[in-house]
Amino acid sequence: MNNTETLNSKGTILLVDDTLANLQVLTQMLKERGYMIRTALSGKLAFSFMETMLPDLILLDILMPEMNGYEVCEKLKADERTRDIPLIFISALSENFDKVKAFSIGGLDYITKPFQAEEVLARVETHLKLYHLQQQFFQQNEELQNTLDNLKATQAKLLESEKMASLGNLVAGITHEINTPLGISKIAASHLTSDTKKAATSYEKKQLKGSALKAYFESATHSSQLIFNNLERANKLAQSFKQVAVDRTNLDKRVFAVKKYIEESIINLTPHLKQTQHCITVSGDDKIEINSFPGTLSQIVTNLVINSITHAYQDGDTGELRFDIRDELGQLIIEYKDNGCGMSAEQMDKIFEPFFTTRRAKGGTGLGLHIIYNLVTQKLKGTIECNSTQGLGTTFTISISSQNVTTPP
Ligand SMILES: Nc1ncnc2c1ncn2[C@@H]1O[C@H](COP(=O)(O)OP(=O)(O)O)[C@@H](O)[C@H]1O
Ligand SMILES: [Mg+2]
Repeated sequence: MNNTETLNSKGTILLVDDTLANLQVLTQMLKERGYMIRTALSGKLAFSFMETMLPDLILLDILMPEMNGYEVCEKLKADERTRDIPLIFISALSENFDKVKAFSIGGLDYITKPFQAEEVLARVETHLKLYHLQQQFFQQNEELQNTLDNLKATQAKLLESEKMASLGNLVAGITHEINTPLGISKIAASHLTSDTKKAATSYEKKQLKGSALKAYFESATHSSQLIFNNLERANKLAQSFKQVAVDRTNLDKRVFAVKKYIEESIINLTPHLKQTQHCITVSGDDKIEINSFPGTLSQIVTNLVINSITHAYQDGDTGELRFDIRDELGQLIIEYKDNGCGMSAEQMDKIFEPFFTTRRAKGGTGLGLHIIYNLVTQKLKGTIECNSTQGLGTTFTISISSQNVTTPP
């Protein structure tokens, strides 16, 4: 087919009729109006033409040898490629034309022989217009759907990045957090230096009294304690910061049984648990295995349990801490629950943010859950959610994607 012909035409029409004279009349009529015409003298020829090209509309005679118009129509409607092409039947007034059947098998309209030029043109034009509008509608609908999908994905990412604060904020936070203990240490060190100088001068002048020496010892002890505590705090923060950036290596990846591994991680927590009355259980299918990072999982389990011990209970409380493991439609779900004090909705919104802690004065860094969040999402390629009710306890649900989870029979 020639390209200029296609570009200039108002659409390609396939005429199917076993009477050559009919084809000629219709061809001339439609060509004059700017349509591109293809003709076929039988249903079979029509199908072989459509192997190479699909028309925008088909005019189909009813009475034809071998395959009649109804049969051609049914075959067209059964094929996904040709199903939507608008189809108009051609019938002679004298023929016994079954309109009900023609419409019920998918014909859109019919024209009668002998042809009335204006009628043929009006019907063809209307159906082509409708067809093009419909196609446009489908295309726009698909574009809208794509835009909507993109929007949803972007929204999800935005929400995540907003929650996790930008790198800039993280650096500012780190600087601030470390500056506080360093600042206190600096002041304490300068006190210690000036007190020592004063004491040394008095000593040299042989003016150092016993009471002054005692006062100096007291203040020196206090200053060194302050320096020590604050340097220790700075050191703890620095250690935690190292973990904020998730290690990208795949070194310790292997297949392991999840339940058994969590139980082992808990045994390592015995020194912490021994000082409490809490009871900890792990339930679920022993056989669930995952190809992932056991070290990372252990770090997550440890942090979750220590958080419950530190934040959820008062001294002397008997808490119930539970891990439950299950395979939900190929997703590994690790659910961790405590029945401690829980938290408010505002608190829950912030717990994964870096530096959010309700125990800053008692040494909290606010990095524990942020690190857990990074480990779950980046290293384990999963998700973590928190649910909590004040006074009833807290639940963390971790789910890890299906590819790596297996439950051997
Ligand atoms: N199991 C829990 N029960 C109640 N509150 C919790 C629990 N786990 C965490 N939190 C809250 O989330 C905050 C952030 O925890 P985390 O990031 O580990 O920092 P940190 O332990 O240093 O405070 C805690 O300060 C506490 O308010
Ligand atoms: Mg913590």
